[in-house]
Amino acid sequence: MKVGIDLIHFATSDYALGLDTFAEEKGTDVNKYHIGIGQEQMSIAPPDEDIVTLSAKAAAPIINQIDRNDITAVLFATESGVDQSKSAGAFLHGLLKLSNRCRVVEFKHACYAGTAALQMATTMVKANPKETILVIAADIAKYDVDSSGEATQGCGAVAMLVKAEPRILAIEPGSGYYTDDVMDFWRPNKRTTALVDGKYSTKVYLNSLKQAWEHFVEETGRHFEDFDAFCYHIPFSRMTEKAHKTLVKKVGAKLSSDTFREQTAPGQVYNRVVGNSYSASLFIGFCSFLDNAIQDLTGKRFGFFSYGSGCVAEFFSGIIQPGYQQHLMTESHRQQIESRQPLDYQQYLAFYHQTDSDVENITFPHNNKGPFRLAGIENHIRRYESGIQPA
Ligand code: COA
Repeated sequence: MKVGIDLIHFATSDYALGLDTFAEEKGTDVNKYHIGIGQEQMSIAPPDEDIVTLSAKAAAPIINQIDRNDITAVLFATESGVDQSKSAGAFLHGLLKLSNRCRVVEFKHACYAGTAALQMATTMVKANPKETILVIAADIAKYDVDSSGEATQGCGAVAMLVKAEPRILAIEPGSGYYTDDVMDFWRPNKRTTALVDGKYSTKVYLNSLKQAWEHFVEETGRHFEDFDAFCYHIPFSRMTEKAHKTLVKKVGAKLSSDTFREQTAPGQVYNRVVGNSYSASLFIGFCSFLDNAIQDLTGKRFGFFSYGSGCVAEFFSGIIQPGYQQHLMTESHRQQIESRQPLDYQQYLAFYHQTDSDVENITFPHNNKGPFRLAGIENHIRRYESGIQPA
């Protein structure tokens, strides 16, 4: 029995800050961003957008294609959780009017948790093929103003329907993994922004890739030549190049620059303009690859490298299924990106500071243009609004 991703859709916010605007404000050469880190824009969430509303926007087009009562579990991965106790998936469950006969749980480990949730979902489906699981990876990447990470913010959510006989990607058994207790990126309780040792984090990322790959080869017997395409965790799109160069060097492959690009470039198109979305970024990269590849990907083997600072990494693989093109939501992805409203630096700062609100009661101005929004907080209770009527 094949198990994997049956449908996949991502959502991002309605606003974006151009790195040209950012460079002008900071007095930096814009090529540091456009070329040096490979980023052009970052999606910015207004105060009435959070990981719950983003994930509802990501999941709704999937739920609309199935019977929502079929969902047996929601596995929600995030670094930017909205409550220390209640799972963000429970808020999502309410917004999407899912069945009460459903389990919901939140997964956390920096940018890695989406992969943990996906692997858990495939295992659950293998144990019981009747399961239909909604996996969510959603994050708002936020660093201190004027820190090295400020240019690598962004936000996004990916929803994946995981089931037997999937229509898009069959995930193959076996993976390689690597964990080490390091402090390259972390966010102590009560902080809304991450602390990061940026240069160190890229070194740990690349070492983790080599270690996870070695384990993957030992576990599966598959080799670099068995792969057609690679999706990497993308904190900034230039990281994909650094990662792929590292892997190519490690395995001693001789690739032309065209082959190097074919194996990685389609996966960077969206991330270049969405920015970092932590746990979602690997899967937005996968959406980007599916939507932007020129050739037919049917039967192609993809390698996925997931990295979460702190650190946990995993390399796994999957095969693209026949007819996958009919199930992509390319138009929705492109339309969301293209219709974002550009912000100037002061407007970005206003959103940035309002989303820091850690107060008992607040009503948010209406900036979110999507079908779901965070209206405010009343006596510490988050109040969401939805355009979706009960089924
Ligand atoms: N034109 C072209 N390239 C330029 C440039 C210019 N005018 N100015 C700088 N660059 C290049 C640098 O040479 C460097 O390239 P390299 O990575 O090949 O050495 C790159 O742009 C970044 O410049 P740098 O001075 O190193 O930037 P920085 O000190 O602001 O740090 C990060 C960059 C990625 C470390 C920083 O953005 C960060 O901390 N990000 C958050 C953490 C993160 O994303 N970690 C990744 C692992 S999860």
